[in-house]
Amino acid sequence: MMRVFVAGATGAIGSQLVPRLVAAGHEVHGMTRSASKQAMLSELGAVPVLADALDPDQVAEAVGSARPEVIVHQLTAIPGVVDMRRFDRDFALTNRLRTEGTDHLLSAGRAVGVRRFVAQAIAAYGVYARTGGPVKSEKDPFDPAPAREMRETVAAIRHLEEAVLGAEWTEGIVLRYGAFYGPGTSMAPGAEQFELVRRRKFPLVADGGGVWSFIHVADAAEATAAAVEHGRRGVYNVVDDDPAPVAEWLPALAQALGAKKPMRVPRFVGRLFAGEAGVMMMTGVRGASNAKAKRELGWRPAHPSWRQGFAAA
Ligand SMILES: NC(=O)c1ccc[n+]([C@@H]2O[C@H](COP(=O)([O-])OP(=O)(O)OC[C@H]3O[C@@H](n4cnc5c(N)ncnc54)[C@H](OP(=O)(O)O)[C@@H]3O)[C@@H](O)[C@H]2O)c1
Repeated sequence: MMRVFVAGATGAIGSQLVPRLVAAGHEVHGMTRSASKQAMLSELGAVPVLADALDPDQVAEAVGSARPEVIVHQLTAIPGVVDMRRFDRDFALTNRLRTEGTDHLLSAGRAVGVRRFVAQAIAAYGVYARTGGPVKSEKDPFDPAPAREMRETVAAIRHLEEAVLGAEWTEGIVLRYGAFYGPGTSMAPGAEQFELVRRRKFPLVADGGGVWSFIHVADAAEATAAAVEHGRRGVYNVVDDDPAPVAEWLPALAQALGAKKPMRVPRFVGRLFAGEAGVMMMTGVRGASNAKAKRELGWRPAHPSWRQGFAAA
């Protein structure tokens, strides 16, 4: 049994993670900004803690009174639909949570001597270099030239990764999640991204050769719980077994939603409507391998492929 402090406990992933940690016998302290979400945290089995992640004193006090052995950082503020031409603007608050928010949690954790610090990163964009094979392992190099519209976002993710992995006083673990789908995410029946596909507003750009790795949010929570219990310092890709090009998954998703085939637009039209970032996501992005997470965390996704997973979302 451990005392675990979850920042972002009410979010898409946090709300799946908290009950799993509680069921495993851990004492969970869940952080939220809103007094109105405290009841929800109690129902999930956590001790609610009120704090704003961007206020260092509030974070220090929240962590100081919980005195956790493990901190989990799942703080984000991502809109349901991101304007790809203004990616950094739409991620501005998330970027602060990944830079200042990470630093505040780390220094509060250091003060109470947390022995493990698990943080959310991303395998979906701007991380792996867009050269070589379609599927990357944690050892593959970073993208040296992220799309112009997402430079600040990629810099924030790198800050988070470097700060967590560089914290020698604790076991720093970075989980690079694939694109989330499932309950509470924007890729679920009736939610924003599924609706864009259903209404044929999610076109295929050029050859649609960009490779995406997805992960059902419940599987992401399972892997996170495993990392909390026995992860080792380092990076883990938390993705499903089936990285696939947009040209494959997008028409399959449209079909599953009973929609018409997605529109196909040339690269220059894609650039006009979705910027360099949008074209990169559609044509250049690479997928990720989950071999290390399976091997070292003893984790297996219950939804090994988005092919069946989307239908079950
Ligand atoms: N890998 C991926 O594909 C990925 C990763 C992340 C998010 N997403 C998607 O993005 C969409 C939105 O998700 P989201 O994670 O941004 O929202 P969310 O699911 O509502 O989670 C945000 C969490 O961060 C907390 N938070 C945000 N700002 C905070 C602050 N200043 N102080 C304290 N806590 C703060 C929120 O707490 P309170 O609101 O309770 O204060 C909440 O627990 C979803 O569709 C999700 O699937 C995708």
